[in-house]
Amino acid sequence: MAEKKIILTGDRPTGKLHLGHYVGSLANRVKLQDEYRQFIIVADMQALTDNAEDPLKVRNNIMEVALDYLAVGIDPKKSTIFIQSFIPEISELAMYFMNLVTLARAERNPTVKDEMKQKGFGADVPMGFLAYPISQAADILAFKADLVPVGTDQEPMIEQTNEIVEKFNRVYAPVFGKVKSLISETPRLMGTDGKAKMSKSLGNTILISDSDKTIGEKVMEMYTDPDHIRVKDPGKVEGNVVFSYLDIFDPAKAEVKKLKEEYRAGGLGDVVLKKRLTGILQDLIRPMRERREEFAKDPTFVTNMLQEGTERARAVVAETLQEVKHAMKIDYFG
Ligand code: TRP
Repeated sequence: MAEKKIILTGDRPTGKLHLGHYVGSLANRVKLQDEYRQFIIVADMQALTDNAEDPLKVRNNIMEVALDYLAVGIDPKKSTIFIQSFIPEISELAMYFMNLVTLARAERNPTVKDEMKQKGFGADVPMGFLAYPISQAADILAFKADLVPVGTDQEPMIEQTNEIVEKFNRVYAPVFGKVKSLISETPRLMGTDGKAKMSKSLGNTILISDSDKTIGEKVMEMYTDPDHIRVKDPGKVEGNVVFSYLDIFDPAKAEVKKLKEEYRAGGLGDVVLKKRLTGILQDLIRPMRERREEFAKDPTFVTNMLQEGTERARAVVAETLQEVKHAMKIDYFG
């Protein structure tokens, strides 16, 4: 039997995961965990690159993110979940990679540029933050991953990773293969406010751990069409968050099409649509939340899973590092 291909992906533990994470990447991870050998990184060191003064936030969210993984159906028997900082060889690899990337290239990464603006770093950007795509390349290449399921904002990271692959192989020896990103069919989920993509910093999320009541409240506040005032008024479907969610989450596509026609013509109220969406999202999230609550009762199980996963992952990374040091001729003691 041919060996399974490898997936490496993960998240920064800076908050609970939401529906944007689910449609952008988590659903793919659940789907692919049988076919691939999957490693999932809880990237605590990357989280510290912009939370250096709040390590407790990172610490506390490791458990939350791990619970979210289990909630959506990532199976620790099939996928290896591990903690970045407990594999120092990843940082070692990142140090070697830093010599292969110029400062100008690091500053050109569009996602880093956006985030720098968003976080208001200005000229005072931490070195670690600017370098995180290089460290992310080390996360990926430490496992010699073939595939990285991520959202579109992470594509520049894969591009930078492949530049490092090319340069490392040329300068030292052909150790690494090219990496491919896997972008989901729904790479960007609009936030509940309709303004931008769903993101915890914008406060426009629906969480995997939200209660039925909270889901209902968040849907009722969703942005629709500000000019659709009375039920009989014609309404706009484009930019209407409720319809964009129905397009994604409602399995009855023909029915959604009909609802759109009715809404456009006038005579269909927002509340009816919002009730429909509320039910759909509650049905999607309820089993996840319930599974999450079960696992939350047994934090020792979760901690053990992370510890065992980290040990397994570290063994894989150690092999890569041996090969890397050999290729670089820095394996001084054989
Ligand atoms: N940068 C990713 C994010 O913010 C998290 C991450 C860290 C990651 N290392 C990774 C994703 C390696 C994929 C592969 O969501």
